[in-house]
Amino acid sequence: MKKIYGILGDPVAHSLSPVMHNAAFEELGMDAVYLAFRVSQNELEDAIKGAKSLGIAGLNVTIPLKEKALLFVDAEEVARRIGAINTVDFRTGGTPVGYNTDGIGSIRVLKETVGELKGKKVLIIGAGGAAKAITFYLDLKGAKVTIANRTKERAAQLASKLSNADAIGLDTELKQQIKTSDILIHATSVGMHPHEDATLVTADMMHPDLVVFDVVYNPMETKLLKEAKRAGVKKIVNGVKMLVYQGAASFELWTKEEPPIAVMEKAVTDALACD
Ligand SMILES: NC(=O)c1ccc[n+]([C@@H]2O[C@H](COP(=O)([O-])OP(=O)(O)OC[C@H]3O[C@@H](n4cnc5c(N)ncnc54)[C@H](OP(=O)(O)O)[C@@H]3O)[C@@H](O)[C@H]2O)c1
Repeated sequence: MKKIYGILGDPVAHSLSPVMHNAAFEELGMDAVYLAFRVSQNELEDAIKGAKSLGIAGLNVTIPLKEKALLFVDAEEVARRIGAINTVDFRTGGTPVGYNTDGIGSIRVLKETVGELKGKKVLIIGAGGAAKAITFYLDLKGAKVTIANRTKERAAQLASKLSNADAIGLDTELKQQIKTSDILIHATSVGMHPHEDATLVTADMMHPDLVVFDVVYNPMETKLLKEAKRAGVKKIVNGVKMLVYQGAASFELWTKEEPPIAVMEKAVTDALACD
């Protein structure tokens, strides 16, 4: 029987997950389909219970449901610490299991780009959902993290939950911190379509040996990444890889199959190019 997977969100029509996972199912010849379901916060519990009753094989959850979804699953420990999940696995038959593959995806990107993360000095801008998922995993890997956020209290709150992190605002201190960092991760919505000319960091604030990773994937080359090029930065990564790797991690959890990464990435970049 055809297996059904899907994503719950509100809104969810523009999610790239259906195109990415359906391309993977097709590539592997699997009898499966991945659909988008618009679900409000109030309907989330019913939706997860209903999905289990209907035999849906696996779900992603996205904005604004990632935190609330935690209430209806048995989440793995790091996801509980992050306070959000993006993946639900029904395979156990009992309480669904929740994971946060955003963190897993970002660490895979960083490891591929940088290698060992232990002892690396990382400056991350943002203290929202993406930043939380990334920083908890960076902490597990032994990186030294500075969190810079417009609302400094939010950065301080996040830093207090990590073992080796501190917090700053987006003021003059930011420039100083970037100059002494190994890795800069941008995890705010600044520079996202349709505000493509916006950036919180300009070329004069960067150095060529910095690794610059923007989690924003639409546009694929953000203003921040253009500025990084202008500063002569050698290692630049956009948000597409993280999107694909978080999807691949969910795919592997659900299916136990090796995800066809190149096919998934092409499906996402093709969809973004048509946007
Ligand atoms: N590549 C991927 O796989 C992936 C995965 C998840 C998310 N993302 C992307 O990551 C970005 C953030 O998502 P999220 O879920 O973390 O959002 P979120 O939870 O709403 O957090 C938004 C963050 O952006 C900051 N911010 C918003 N507007 C700002 C402005 N004008 N100036 C300075 N800071 C501003 C907020 O600061 P305050 O705390 O001060 O409000 C907060 O830190 C989005 O572009 C999303 O598409 C990518």
